[in-house]
Amino acid sequence: MREEALQAIQEAPDLDTLQAVKTRYVGKSGLVTKELGSLGKLPPEERKSRGAEINALRQAIDAALTEREAVLKRAALDAKLASEAIDVTLPGLSLPAGGLHPISRVYDDLIRIYERMGYAVVEGPEVEDEHYNFEALNVPWYHPARDLQDTFWLEDGRLLRTHTSPMQVRYMVDHEPPLKIVVRGKVYRYEATDATHESMFHQLEGLVVGDGISMADLKGTIAEMARGLYGPSAKVRFQPSYYPFVEPGADFAVWWDNPRGESKWLELGGCGMVHPNVFKAVDDLREQQGKPRVYEGKTGFAFGLGPERIAMLKYGIPDIRYFYANDPRVIGQFRGEL
Ligand code: PHE
Repeated sequence: MREEALQAIQEAPDLDTLQAVKTRYVGKSGLVTKELGSLGKLPPEERKSRGAEINALRQAIDAALTEREAVLKRAALDAKLASEAIDVTLPGLSLPAGGLHPISRVYDDLIRIYERMGYAVVEGPEVEDEHYNFEALNVPWYHPARDLQDTFWLEDGRLLRTHTSPMQVRYMVDHEPPLKIVVRGKVYRYEATDATHESMFHQLEGLVVGDGISMADLKGTIAEMARGLYGPSAKVRFQPSYYPFVEPGADFAVWWDNPRGESKWLELGGCGMVHPNVFKAVDDLREQQGKPRVYEGKTGFAFGLGPERIAMLKYGIPDIRYFYANDPRVIGQFRGEL
């Protein structure tokens, strides 16, 4: 019986079977238990040695049971862990995730630079009055500059702003100098689209007004922006130009030190010293609203630039129309790092 019992214990494949073996030998009516119970029927001289024998058997079986039980428990635990394990090296499910549009990224860069210089960031209406978009900016109805900015007219006589400059006027009507603002937003031009022209695009407008503001301040500001965008070695270039709302006016370009080798002057936008007629138009509007005239005699500069141009160069985007076609193959490349 000893061999048989120990073998059954050794070979029990699982805990249930082991329990059955245990019951069979050392349970209440198990074989060993019965043997112990029948000791009383033996003659006293046999009883002692037989008793010792059966006790030894029982101890051997108990020990074997304990050992086998530990082995089987361990195996059961291992199997459970293995079946519940998560393989962290398996590829994950890719969920559709959004990302910042390249134009938003460029705006964020620009606005960080201007906020560091103490500018407030404002926005204004895309549907604009003719007066703010043109007249108050020193562009009368017969002025040829209106042809440069072919306009989407609305049926009610208003228009889609052709630039962010009308916000210069709106802001000055509502605020007294000194002031430093940048304006971000969409602008619209009624013109044929091609790789470098869209009928909707973006601008960042700057306006600084105070006492004794000079062209040197303007140049220093644009240079600081260039360094913020392209690093400490960035250079700026100003060329005389004409915008009715500034005098003198200039176009500015930034030297872009492209690590990929296509370094060039990037024509970024227009700028100049705020024209006295603009200050006068602002004071006229303020007066109509019962506000004091505070702009005549002040000085200031303004600039306007297009984030699309920066983004096209920065990200190597060859066609401005890609920005707004909402093709996920294009836009999807701008996930991840901000
Ligand atoms: N508003 C001009 C444009 O859209 C840019 C500009 C802004 C020029 C401010 C001078 C000063 O082309």
